[in-house]
Amino acid sequence: MGHIFDALALGGSGSVISSTDEHEELYNDAVKHLSVGKEDVVLDAGCGTGAVTFEIAKLCHHIVGFDISRESIRIARQRAKQEGKLNIEFHLGELECPDAIEGLKNYEVYDKILVFRSLHHLPQLYKENSMVKLYSMLKPGGRIVIGDLMAFEPPEQHRSSWLEIGYDGGLTDRIESVDFHIKFLNFIGCDVKIERIHALLGIVVGYKKDREHGLFKN
Ligand SMILES: C[S@@+](CC[C@H](N)C(=O)[O-])C[C@H]1O[C@@H](n2cnc3c(N)ncnc32)[C@H](O)[C@@H]1O
Repeated sequence: MGHIFDALALGGSGSVISSTDEHEELYNDAVKHLSVGKEDVVLDAGCGTGAVTFEIAKLCHHIVGFDISRESIRIARQRAKQEGKLNIEFHLGELECPDAIEGLKNYEVYDKILVFRSLHHLPQLYKENSMVKLYSMLKPGGRIVIGDLMAFEPPEQHRSSWLEIGYDGGLTDRIESVDFHIKFLNFIGCDVKIERIHALLGIVVGYKKDREHGLFKN
């Protein structure tokens, strides 16, 4: 599956956000919600060639990016080496099983986790698996920020903006309702905040409680 994204990685511009005003807003606000501090260790899940990872690296102690695309990881590592970045590392791996990625275990837990424009590639059940595992890698008191395609209104009502938003109508993009994200993050124990950028684009922030009382104790 990663090879589909390899081709995209090779054609990528490498800029943080190039496409539309909505995507620029999605990026700016996702970073704002992440609220990265100088001491934070951050995980960038589905990082691609690291355009966002490199920006967040300027704000935090250390950032670890992973992606299913071998080519993306090669490009990201090459850039980190060329720029002499010591607080960034990249690993190959899947959103469905981040807990199986050896390199991610260098840090027991992460202060912040970003899942930016990557989760929509997964079918719903895989999204759930991924979120449960990412949540288990999050520090109590930490937060997970999903910035992605998500339906605040039925996608069919917004056909005219699919192209602009980057939604392929369900060919490969698996858009979920915003309610799905809220309910699932609540279910695994997070308090949730939502920001709507567009009818099909938004940010969900899950806050992990300091002390756990539910199923997923740390
Ligand atoms: C639209 S790009 C976003 C990349 C980066 N987050 C950004 O915004 O610049 C989507 C990324 O998700 C990755 N991806 C898709 N499915 C994945 C999976 N199952 N596990 C890990 N990464 C995945 C792709 O390889 C691709 O790099």
